[in-house]
Amino acid sequence: MHKYKVSLLALLAAVAIGTSSCSDEKAKQPEIKPKFTTLKEAYADKFLVGATIGASMFSSSDSKSLALVEKNFSAITLDNDMKWERINPLPGQYEFEIADKFAKLGVDKGITTVGHVLFWHSQTPDWVFKDDQGKLLTREALLEVMRERAKMFASRYGDRVKIWDVVNEAIEDDGSLRKSLYNQIIGDDFIEQAFIIADQEMPKDTTLLYNDYGMDRTGRRATVIAMVNDFKQRGVRIDGIGLQGHWGMDEPSAEKIDETLGLYAATGLRLHITELDVDFLGRDGLTGANVEIEKLQATPENNPYPDANFPVEADEQLGKRYQAIFKQFIKHHKSIDRVTFWGVTDGDSWLNGWPVAGRTNYPLLFNRDGSAKKAHDAVVELVN
Ligand code: GLA
Repeated sequence: MHKYKVSLLALLAAVAIGTSSCSDEKAKQPEIKPKFTTLKEAYADKFLVGATIGASMFSSSDSKSLALVEKNFSAITLDNDMKWERINPLPGQYEFEIADKFAKLGVDKGITTVGHVLFWHSQTPDWVFKDDQGKLLTREALLEVMRERAKMFASRYGDRVKIWDVVNEAIEDDGSLRKSLYNQIIGDDFIEQAFIIADQEMPKDTTLLYNDYGMDRTGRRATVIAMVNDFKQRGVRIDGIGLQGHWGMDEPSAEKIDETLGLYAATGLRLHITELDVDFLGRDGLTGANVEIEKLQATPENNPYPDANFPVEADEQLGKRYQAIFKQFIKHHKSIDRVTFWGVTDGDSWLNGWPVAGRTNYPLLFNRDGSAKKAHDAVVELVN
């Protein structure tokens, strides 16, 4: 009995010591968080991570790309098929097939869909601005044509596409208004009129964005901020600012991105990075994303890796640049709703054809075969 008592006490003491040393161990160990492997999971508590997709993704032979999108991204934008020249190439003629599939994909897979783009000077057919005799429309007539377009999108996709680039690229680098037929016909209040139409015709829970490239340039930045503040003061609804983010390896610097995001965030509007890519091969002195400039020709100097033989060191360099950019997005994440890449794989990128025609570029986070690049892992790793 006595013996039993002693050993019971010894046992209790041993358990007590064991428990306390075990909890000490626990306290010492850092909390183990789950390791994220995809972009959308890694940034889920900060912002949506999106990609633009194209018509080819809906062909039955491209199920691999679709699977890649579903796995990695929480938002999608259609690259071309909601643009005016595609969806409504002639008066009364509508090509809804791709846009319908896009909107359905969003609902079926629970991915946020973004409308691109309501009003843009480019990829817009001539008939929009002219009457049957080829004469330029009056201000009132053009505003009516614009209203019809907004109504069309609202009635067909208004229940599903809840974020829209309302106006794209209407302000120049120096902050002046871009000269376009919209401006010429409607006047300097074209942007304001576009937002009034979108507000009146789109469902009230739609996020309305002004979108542009080179949003860090001081001239454009000052004009956009002044415009937004003026709209807010006069009750013209605008909900967010879209920064395209067609950036280079060095420009804009992390400091410039930080400053720019801070200044736009101070307007109180939501920020969306709408078309992110990093032009790994550079632009031969050309800046911005003005799609209308003349293209250069590929040479061994500006097209150093023509056979998809992107070296590991280059991928690491790209990863460092993306990390520097995402550090700023993380810093400002409370103001940012979405970061969307312009394309999924390097093969999708417009930078294979601009500003140098026919070169092989490497600006995104997935290789041409759909495998994740080192740069991808570097971006995910930042939050792990
Ligand atoms: C601009 C437009 C997009 C697309 C890209 C690159 O930034 O907003 O629709 O055309 O250029 O191609």
